[in-house]
Amino acid sequence: MTLANNYDLLIRGGTVIDGTKAPRFTADVAVKDGRIVAVGALPAEARAAEVVDARGLIVAPGFIDSHTHDDMALLATDMGFKVSQGVTTVIAGNCGISAAPLKQAMDLPMPLNLLDAPAGRRHESFAAYLAQLRAQPAAVNVAALVGHSTLRAVTMAQLDRPANAEEITAMQAHVQEALDAGAIGLSTGTFYPPALAATTEEIIAVGEPLRARQGLYVTHMRDESSKVMEALEETFRIGRELGVPVVVSHHKVQNRPNFGRSQETLPFIRETMRRQSVCLDCYPYTAGSTMIRTDRGMLDGRVLIASSEPHPECAGRDLGDIAREWGVEESEAARRLQPGTAIYFLMDEADVQRILAFDDTMIGSDGIPLGDKPHPRLWGTFPRVLGHYSREVALFPLETAVWKMTGLTARNFGLAGRGTLAAGCHADIVLFDAATVRDAATYEEPTRPAEGIHRVYVNGHLAWSGGTHTGARAGQVVTRMPATRN
Ligand code: ZN
Ligand code: CU
Repeated sequence: MTLANNYDLLIRGGTVIDGTKAPRFTADVAVKDGRIVAVGALPAEARAAEVVDARGLIVAPGFIDSHTHDDMALLATDMGFKVSQGVTTVIAGNCGISAAPLKQAMDLPMPLNLLDAPAGRRHESFAAYLAQLRAQPAAVNVAALVGHSTLRAVTMAQLDRPANAEEITAMQAHVQEALDAGAIGLSTGTFYPPALAATTEEIIAVGEPLRARQGLYVTHMRDESSKVMEALEETFRIGRELGVPVVVSHHKVQNRPNFGRSQETLPFIRETMRRQSVCLDCYPYTAGSTMIRTDRGMLDGRVLIASSEPHPECAGRDLGDIAREWGVEESEAARRLQPGTAIYFLMDEADVQRILAFDDTMIGSDGIPLGDKPHPRLWGTFPRVLGHYSREVALFPLETAVWKMTGLTARNFGLAGRGTLAAGCHADIVLFDAATVRDAATYEEPTRPAEGIHRVYVNGHLAWSGGTHTGARAGQVVTRMPATRN
């Protein structure tokens, strides 16, 4: 005689941090058909196909990575670098760079080549990209942005000038197609060569289809250095003129003369939030990472090569050492190492902490899943916030840390039923040990999986357990449900 299984999964006796910033509480969590169906003290007779003893562990909503470049990795990899951190949803298509739409034959200008989208594996429409993610699900959920630089590359013969009327019309059609297919918004990266020549007016025009859908405007701003305030103004203006919410990506103030200026930017952001919808994300490191650049502003501090197509043997080495060995200037060495990626030590710890601690800052990794010496943020961001910044530095309580990577993010991106651990929500769940959770990835050993992450469920399917990927690929394509903000 067998008792009927009431639930698919029953997580017993854990300490729930529900993603709303509410204080933790002890509860059982029951899951059925990919949804959380009960949170509370469940009767001893309750049965499930899988029962997990979570005593001593935190049970939280799966983390949402608000800023990623995982567009192609979702299809090509098991996403172990994210699942191992407790991440169950990623926002793809950031910094103006999206994997769709691309033409099979075209050359990809830097930094589009960072997507690792070889000819033959490209998607010519956003609908085709999302259709493949639905047909061959990734290990995590994904909500995707369409990238302005990608659109420039597919519609413009020359990228070093503003788009003309015809090109703008073509880009608008692509934005509309992407939104119709399920994209949640448009991203830009006017910091990068393919969009450097784009004017504010061009972006407003290209973004026009966002208005009716309340799609998001998400931006790697033109300047995160001496002109950061002007860049914020431009960003807010675009959001205002389109009447849509704005996301300031990986907010930072870089280069030594600007250290401390988060004391200017954050009050400006706070003030602007009273009049229009603005949010921001941040990664918990003082070094950034992007394509190898040769401009002096980027070569200001220590530069670590993460990957190089012509010189793969240089990955993991300092640019200064390489330049000395080659007997050339650093900018010349950088030029020879292109295309590739590097890690730039250009921020001040006090700014990073101030931005992380700012009430409305979400956590986003900005990880670049390329090569074996990536920035450690790819494998370490979320446990680093939980372990280092919340537990060790005491920058904020654990409930706030979890909120910044779950409930806040789901609200800002309009991801209905995600980011909160409550009955009715999707069963994206992470079990971790508050006392031991920590990032193990370092600049030297950047692909070491985090510690203290016990189990990770994506839509009710176990994806990570005891330090191992289960191989489950239960991720869904998530679309945006514009929130009514109060
Ligand atoms: Zn960026
Ligand atoms: Cu980015």
